[in-house]
Amino acid sequence: MRHQKLKNAAEFENTRDDVFERIASRYDLLCDLFSLGIHRIWKRRVSDLVSEEPWDNLLDVASGTGDIVLKLLQKKKLLSNQKVIVSDICRKMLSIAERKIDDYRENIRFERINAHSINEIDSSSIDVYSISLGLKICDREKAMQEAFRVLKPGGRFVSLEASNIPFNWLHNLYLFYMALCMPFIGWVATGGDSSAYKYLLHGVRDFPSAEDLKTEIESIGFEKVKYERLSLGIVAIHIAVKPECA
Ligand SMILES: C[S@@+](CC[C@H](N)C(=O)[O-])C[C@H]1O[C@@H](n2cnc3c(N)ncnc32)[C@H](O)[C@@H]1O
Repeated sequence: MRHQKLKNAAEFENTRDDVFERIASRYDLLCDLFSLGIHRIWKRRVSDLVSEEPWDNLLDVASGTGDIVLKLLQKKKLLSNQKVIVSDICRKMLSIAERKIDDYRENIRFERINAHSINEIDSSSIDVYSISLGLKICDREKAMQEAFRVLKPGGRFVSLEASNIPFNWLHNLYLFYMALCMPFIGWVATGGDSSAYKYLLHGVRDFPSAEDLKTEIESIGFEKVKYERLSLGIVAIHIAVKPECA
């Protein structure tokens, strides 16, 4: 059953649990194990979509170890007018991102930013806001309101997140597989730290469907909301525009 009223699908609260500090050094390995490596394809698609947009200022939120921006930079050198902010609430994740992106440091800033209140960034100053696998771990309503605030009119919101396979029986089978295998993989990979897969499992199970997330994004004030499902709908990428008149 999907609990769509829950605005923080994973019920994760950074101040209660420093799980990302604990698993930061193993995060990339965990992503490969949990998704059988397929997260690389999802993230490449996000970075392709971001690079197709015209932008001067890109803000990547909940960047983790920096995969989205790294893929973007590996694909295309930044233009001299383009600036990127890589951000996360977790210091250790951010320092790994910094190390991974070290070769491309020009015009890149690393900032510790809370997606729920981005006090560091002026309103209407960002052209593209991206968040990958972060909405389920945040209060998505607050995060999307902040995304809306910092974006310039006409700016783009891009989100990659867990979603629903449109065939119920297959989606339930997928959730069953996750519930069965993830505790084992997670337990082995984290040396017995159950938090990582607990949040992931809740986040995936209780995150809204692609259609419902589209409605939520529209309710924040975004327009032209589109989404594409990847890997049968295990994840979806949503793109939305802040209206010119906002
Ligand atoms: C599942 S990871 C996703 C990382 C990366 N974007 C990726 O695609 O692999 C979620 C990230 O969200 C960060 N996070 C959790 N709560 C946050 C918040 N309130 N503000 C900013 N980042 C947050 C965590 O520290 C973690 O790095």
